[in-house]
Amino acid sequence: MVGPFPWREAPAAEFAVIGDPIGHSLSPKMQGAALQALGLPHRYVAIHVPVGEVPDALDHLAGLGYQGINVTVPHKETVLAWCREVDPFARRVGAANTLRISDRFGLNTDALGFLDVLHGLGVSAPAKTLVLGAGGSSRALTAMLADEGYDLALWNRTPERACELIDSLGLGLPIVATPDARGFDLVINTTSASLGPERIAVEWGRSQVAIDLAYGAGPTPFLQDAAAHGARIEDGRSLLVAQGARSLEFWLGVVAPREVMAAALA
Ligand code: ATR
Repeated sequence: MVGPFPWREAPAAEFAVIGDPIGHSLSPKMQGAALQALGLPHRYVAIHVPVGEVPDALDHLAGLGYQGINVTVPHKETVLAWCREVDPFARRVGAANTLRISDRFGLNTDALGFLDVLHGLGVSAPAKTLVLGAGGSSRALTAMLADEGYDLALWNRTPERACELIDSLGLGLPIVATPDARGFDLVINTTSASLGPERIAVEWGRSQVAIDLAYGAGPTPFLQDAAAHGARIEDGRSLLVAQGARSLEFWLGVVAPREVMAAALA
């Protein structure tokens, strides 16, 4: 019983992920494995919520007794309007991916999860870091890394968007004209270029760590290039696990079984 279900036909369950599209989501499999490993009877399902129907859908799920909701594209920004209380970081970046229904609380575990991933890789501030992309995923990550003291620079295909992102967060970060990663310790791809066949022409340096927020059946084109230049690579699965684990911990006050969750995605 993992769905995806149209929200009006949502089954009785405790947790869900909402998005549009949602059919591809691995969260039910991953969170289901975690709940089972914890010995909990709770159910976690995928629910399709079209744009414009978020408040009605959330009211409906609350009425059915859901306790926690993960939120994915394209609803991370619009859910804030439904929340009664929003964590200060989620408010600042304008996006939440985790909702607690009882008090309508919105939290952003994407950025927290990303820090966990960096920790696991042994990377810490003030690592010299190049962020590729200036969309919604870049925004939360850039804000969190800047707060943590990483030495950041941004590249975006459309430089004006990178300027807007930095200005709107009140950060004074450099924007680079080309994706030249030489001299950076860490390179993070937040663009959706990985999802298609297009490659960003990154100039790679030595001994780098490369992270792609996207993932596919094998390494993304970005990570293939990075690995060919000797970089240590990590794809978006580890972030999926980290943010999901942080969400479960927030809802249930338990320590999430990260290894079980990662194994469920393999
Ligand atoms: P998300 O919320 O996932 O970040 P988004 O807001 O649509 O999605 O942002 C997509 C990002 O991928 C942008 O930085 C976009 O660059 P532009 O601002 O120039 O559009 C980037 N992007 C998408 N396709 C790309 C490509 N083929 N090459 C380089 N950057 C690309």
